Amino acid sequence: MKVTVNRKAHFNAAHRLYRSDWSEEKNLSVFGKCSNKNFHGHNYEVIVGVTGEIDKETGYVIDIKILKDLIKTEIEDAFDHKNLNIEVPEFKKLNPTAENIVVVIYNKLFKHMAANHKLEVTLYETPRNYVKFSGKS
Ligand code: NI
Repeated sequence: MKVTVNRKAHFNAAHRLYRSDWSEEKNLSVFGKCSNKNFHGHNYEVIVGVTGEIDKETGYVIDIKILKDLIKTEIEDAFDHKNLNIEVPEFKKLNPTAENIVVVIYNKLFKHMAANHKLEVTLYETPRNYVKFSGKS
């Protein structure tokens, strides 16, 4: 019997949507206000879901304390109160859109997943705008 265990977390971070190989004008025309060179912030909410069989001995799919600690070290410590473009190496050359951020989060967590667990990451950039990634398909 497969169950999904979810853990919610959040981080505050600044970014701007920008390509260094485009002119300021092109960045502005494609990304609008989101390309403001002085950056802007979001209160990101992350939901990490791990799906797997319930372990017969423990009754757990995954020990949620382990998941919580993993999200803390891999995501919160790395992103919280950071400027994503400047301070987070993954975005030095990658535009920090919600789409790219959710893939980066997925990849950072996926390294730690057991082979029999399926990972899904949902990222809210605003209460109304969110993206999901559950691996290449
Ligand atoms: Ni933004």
